[in-house]
Amino acid sequence: MLEASRSAGIPHPSVCGGRGRCSTCRIRVLHGLDGQPEPAPYERATLARIKASGDVRLACQFRPLHDISVVPVLSAGRTRISEPGSSRAARGQEREIAVLFCDLRGFTSLTERRLPFDTVFILNRYFEVVGHAVEEAGVHLDKFIGDGALALFGLSASPDLGCRQAVEAALRIRQGVADLNKAYGSELERPLQLAMSLHVGPAVVSEMGYGQATSLTAVGDTLNAASRLEDLAKELDAELVISDDLARRTVLDLNAHERRTITMRGLTAPVDAWVVRDAWTLMGQGIVSEGSEK
Ligand code: FES
Repeated sequence: MLEASRSAGIPHPSVCGGRGRCSTCRIRVLHGLDGQPEPAPYERATLARIKASGDVRLACQFRPLHDISVVPVLSAGRTRISEPGSSRAARGQEREIAVLFCDLRGFTSLTERRLPFDTVFILNRYFEVVGHAVEEAGVHLDKFIGDGALALFGLSASPDLGCRQAVEAALRIRQGVADLNKAYGSELERPLQLAMSLHVGPAVVSEMGYGQATSLTAVGDTLNAASRLEDLAKELDAELVISDDLARRTVLDLNAHERRTITMRGLTAPVDAWVVRDAWTLMGQGIVSEGSEK
């Protein structure tokens, strides 16, 4: 069905490139569904995940045996990023990547009694620390969100190297924030406190946005899980929560730290993770050298 749309010049979204890994190509069958082939297990699983009704099929997987009348469920929109011929980055590709989420614990309350320009000053120093740490680890900083940041590792390296780079970046951030607290201690009611998470897994990496605001980013269960692990770091007042999946791909020895199994809404399998209350304790584990300031 997707090929039929393409050969007829009908814009038809197909973000995963016709591999049955998204649901953007789905169509609603208006007439002629009787007597058509049943969905294969792969297509059936995708349709079940999005709770599609019985008249919906994936255009890239569906090969009708006789005439049929369909309508694409999603409009291709005004951009042409999902069409054949656009770059792989624009179409999106599934990759195994490591993810770092980084936030400041209790920063909102810290800003309540400060002048907004003073808050901007401190935040920019903190963003500088995060940006340098990620760049020094040799990777891509995705975005700053409020006082948080998201960085993706393994886009141009192996997932294993990405995991090590992610740990290195987290420890460099820890070191940089400790330096900030020392330099600006008199400006702060209490020291800046980090909440970070690290996780690895499959994600769809794609250019997203509009016009000048388009950038390379990633979405998927791995990102959702990493975000949830960062929330857990905040809840537990810990500096870093590392998924066991990522930890096992590094040289980190985390046996001295608390291990938890976390069930997350929307994820089929629970995630095992290590709670590192003070990331400083990981310094010197062969990933990044310990600095002079704590
Ligand atoms: S294009 Fe992604 S499932 Fe059809």
